[in-house]
Amino acid sequence: MQDTDSLRNDLLSQIAAATDAGALEQIRVSALGKKGAISELMRGLGQMSPDERKAAGPALNRLKDDVDAAIRAAREKLDEAALDARLAGERIDVTLPVLPEARGTIHPVSQVIDEVTEIFAQMGFSVAEGPDIEEDFYNFTALNIPPEHPARQMHDTFYLPERPDGTRRVLRTHTSPVQIRTMLSSKPPLRIIAPGRTFRCDSDQTHTPMFHQVEALVIDESTHMGHLKGCIEAFCRAFFEVDEVKMRFRPSYFPFTEPSAEVDIGCRRDGGELRIGEGDDWLEIMGCGMVHPKVLEHGGIDPSKYQGFAFGMGIDRIAMLKYGAPDLRAFFDSDLRWLRHYGFSSLNVPTLGQGISR
Ligand code: DAH
Repeated sequence: MQDTDSLRNDLLSQIAAATDAGALEQIRVSALGKKGAISELMRGLGQMSPDERKAAGPALNRLKDDVDAAIRAAREKLDEAALDARLAGERIDVTLPVLPEARGTIHPVSQVIDEVTEIFAQMGFSVAEGPDIEEDFYNFTALNIPPEHPARQMHDTFYLPERPDGTRRVLRTHTSPVQIRTMLSSKPPLRIIAPGRTFRCDSDQTHTPMFHQVEALVIDESTHMGHLKGCIEAFCRAFFEVDEVKMRFRPSYFPFTEPSAEVDIGCRRDGGELRIGEGDDWLEIMGCGMVHPKVLEHGGIDPSKYQGFAFGMGIDRIAMLKYGAPDLRAFFDSDLRWLRHYGFSSLNVPTLGQGISR
């Protein structure tokens, strides 16, 4: 019988030298497997006299336990080393700058909504919201456009199916219903903008069935037309990032304002490009005016105490002007080449301090 001490030394030094789990397993099989050296010795106990067995048994058991424990410990160490190596290999430095080829971009409409919001936030406006599917009352009647009023034909309205009580909801044709919702839900003085989707059955180079507007509403005791004009001029300078913007106020008509005006921005259509502030062309960007007393009444505000101005601006229009996109329909085609060309980095959030569109 091989001396258990020399077998122990032999096995323990083999275990210490093993560099991977495969080598350890081979050692285990050669010592503790069915035909392993220790198992053979154990089998030999059967042929011993009781006295011999008494001496050899416990020694063999100890040897078996020690080798088993050494293999387990070695395996654990190897596992730990493997995990350490893997963690080191997968290490990522999260402080590294993002790769410039990062894919997705911010759509110009989202970018412009962020820019507009930032500019009006600086002037003390907060953001209000209303639903895309709107009650006829908010979209028309409360804005001084009762049923059968000819002004309803100015809007090519998408109507939802009639309800059992005969009323129909609409896809809102403008953001003006948010004026009424805001007046009914909060007390003056008011100073809000409401950007969002709007819908009309119309399509050509500057019209799409779904488009975007931003509504503004200011209600106070002494707000007047001069404030309206100053506010719009300040906005246009900040938005177009120029000292002077070529613009004109044209007298107009809206049922919900009196007096009313439309604002055009000077531009030039040059081949495939649209240039702002040059040339003799004009692009209409908004309707505006002093809020009609009847609209204040519908909003639960006393017109003998309060007055204010409102405007509704086409977001896509000002995006086209600022970023030189000549065809509005392309905004909603989801053409990746267009999106990569006109899109913005998601990492540049517009702020007045850093430059609104950098
Ligand atoms: N809602 C009008 C439209 O979509 C635009 C508008 C005009 C909004 C005058 C206003 C306003 O708030 O005062 O054509």
